[in-house]
Amino acid sequence: MNALVVGGGGEGIGRAISRAFAGAGAAVAVADIDPGRARAAVEELTGSGARAVPLAGDVRSRPAVDAFVASTVAEFGRLDTLVTVVGGQVAFVPAVRLHEMSDDDWDLAYEMNLGYVARAARAAIRAFLAQGQGGSIVSIGSVTGAMAAPMQAGYGAAKAGLASLAKTVAAEYAGDGIRMNVVACGAIATAVANAAQHADEVPEIPMRRLGVPNDAAAAAVYLASPLSSYVTGQSLVVDGGVTVRGPFSA
Ligand SMILES: NC(=O)c1ccc[n+]([C@@H]2O[C@H](COP(=O)([O-])OP(=O)(O)OC[C@H]3O[C@@H](n4cnc5c(N)ncnc54)[C@H](O)[C@@H]3O)[C@@H](O)[C@H]2O)c1
Repeated sequence: MNALVVGGGGEGIGRAISRAFAGAGAAVAVADIDPGRARAAVEELTGSGARAVPLAGDVRSRPAVDAFVASTVAEFGRLDTLVTVVGGQVAFVPAVRLHEMSDDDWDLAYEMNLGYVARAARAAIRAFLAQGQGGSIVSIGSVTGAMAAPMQAGYGAAKAGLASLAKTVAAEYAGDGIRMNVVACGAIATAVANAAQHADEVPEIPMRRLGVPNDAAAAAVYLASPLSSYVTGQSLVVDGGVTVRGPFSA
């Protein structure tokens, strides 16, 4: 198996996913806007005996997204799995209520969480169809895609769109052996969403802990692997039980 991990150089979920795929025996193309991050991730993977290649580019560039897929196919001879990790809002858009949000910020949040994923999925699907042996797409989403996202309206709407995109891809390409699923993360402790910021949320989490990047990475590997061969169009919620809790405490 091989995997193209878009946003795979990060210190958080992206890096954990790159490591997890390499650990599962996959050759990994690590794509990131920061060439140094992509290189560092690849050095770590190759140092542990995996096959890996760094790719640099910005997901907001249409040619760059197509080039990620083309370069992976050129390097490994084929593409089996696309994982999209890039996303978020608080790092690049002010946290404000909807009436204060500019059009440009809305567009940026949407582009960074859904627009590029559709383009990457399209490029991957074209490669899968040309290869004729199916393929798998896994996108990192959020529980905010199925509930409110206060102060992050564009983010929440885009992550909801991601869940819809997975269902449509699932329905359109099931007959071609192509699957798409989402990992809907709850609060995961990373450098961007650090433990201190999330500390107030821990008492609300039934498991009484934040998630760690490996929680999301394990779900991504499962959804890419043959273990989930009858699973498509789904959002696998990885949130320590937050979204099933309701108002009643145990
Ligand atoms: N951390 C959380 O609590 C949490 C919760 C729900 C969902 N998520 C989702 O997890 C995903 C990863 O989040 P993370 O905070 O762990 O990040 P991460 O540490 O995995 O880093 C993401 C990587 O994307 C790269 N990147 C940023 N902009 C890019 C661009 N324009 N083009 C190419 N690469 C780019 C960064 O350089 C970074 O290496 C996001 O989709 C986010 O919405 C996180």
